[in-house]
Amino acid sequence: MRLRDCFNFHDFRELARRRVPGPIFNYIDGGADDEVTLRRNTAGFEQCDLVPSILRGVETVDISVSVMGQKLAMPFYCSPTALQRLFHHQGERAVAAAAAKFGTMFGVSSLGTVSMEELRKKYETPQVYQFYFHKDRGLNRDMLQRAKQAGVDVMMLTVDSITGGNRERDLRTGFAIPFKLTPGGMLQFAIKPMWAINYVTHESFKLPQLDEHVDMSGGVMSIGRYFTEMLDPSMKWDDVAEMVRAWNGQFCLKGIMSVSDAKRAAEIGCTGIILSNHGGRQLDGSRAAFDQLAEIVDAVGDRIDVMMDGGIQRGSHVLKALSLGAKAVGVGRFYLFALAAAGQAGVERALGLMKAEIERDMKLMGCSTIKQLTRSNLRFR
Ligand SMILES: Cc1cc2nc3c(=O)[nH]c(=O)nc-3n(C[C@H](O)[C@H](O)[C@H](O)COP(=O)(O)O)c2cc1C
Repeated sequence: MRLRDCFNFHDFRELARRRVPGPIFNYIDGGADDEVTLRRNTAGFEQCDLVPSILRGVETVDISVSVMGQKLAMPFYCSPTALQRLFHHQGERAVAAAAAKFGTMFGVSSLGTVSMEELRKKYETPQVYQFYFHKDRGLNRDMLQRAKQAGVDVMMLTVDSITGGNRERDLRTGFAIPFKLTPGGMLQFAIKPMWAINYVTHESFKLPQLDEHVDMSGGVMSIGRYFTEMLDPSMKWDDVAEMVRAWNGQFCLKGIMSVSDAKRAAEIGCTGIILSNHGGRQLDGSRAAFDQLAEIVDAVGDRIDVMMDGGIQRGSHVLKALSLGAKAVGVGRFYLFALAAAGQAGVERALGLMKAEIERDMKLMGCSTIKQLTRSNLRFR
């Protein structure tokens, strides 16, 4: 199987599974507890049908959107994800380059493996910085200031990770940074020699957003421990309001799920919210963002930009979310499997396929602009 054999999410996932060590594949693929929310995220789209209109002159379609003050050539962006250099040695550079090529936004995680400054300088396309609120308030202030100085366009504070989700696949494989592997996990690395060669012959693994503040030289830190030991579970609305004031620019909260929280976000001056359950990796049993979208758009959609992520694998999923009122949607695993499978070429292929699907489906729906997608296009089962 090669990259040219990949035509959809499932193909990229399969190629990634064949090319990267099992513990890494499972870190990307897995969710929390029984993975009910993970499955629901995609299944939710199947409860909703598209109702096309015909004969409306769709020779050209414009799929560009404006969100959080940014003009995006397509209505989906690469949601911030951790540790990309582990998945492929090109890491965040591959994702940023592909996002720039397609004129869309990409996120850099607090747990990113390339610095936000380098990415900001090299790639001309809207850049999000994804912030985790640490116990160390000095670290928080420094990070905010660094992002401002770097020229980050959108600040995104993740609020669904107040403690680590229970990712049992990672517990079984011993996935941690740097690696501490079970014997079974070691074997997986041995049988994926290309990945191993690329890993050791390229730049060493770093967490440049955190390096100055976290000493990981003394041992391994599981992702669960990072969340539990370093992030601040006492974070409250007042802390966020202070951050919003300090940032004084486009600021969104990622991981909002309730109407009352959405209203509160608008009240404290956020310019956007992202409905998200972190790709089913945090609270299992949590509702899917798509299922929750309409009521939140109705409550705050006239005041702030509402976005969503979780489970998006198809252009038609994007169209359904936009029809309900999302201004744009985020994808995670959709580009991560492509990255793991084939680096920048993989991510470019994935984004290109998604863009083509959206354009084709827009035409089939009889819509030439995103604004023409409305709830009258949808029926729920
Ligand atoms: C491997 C992986 C790492 C992630 N790392 C982060 C992160 O560092 N910060 C964050 O806010 N969200 C993170 N997320 C969540 C994504 O930003 C996004 O919410 C989620 O992947 C969307 O679901 P999807 O993968 O089904 O598209 C991560 C997701 C995955 C799969």
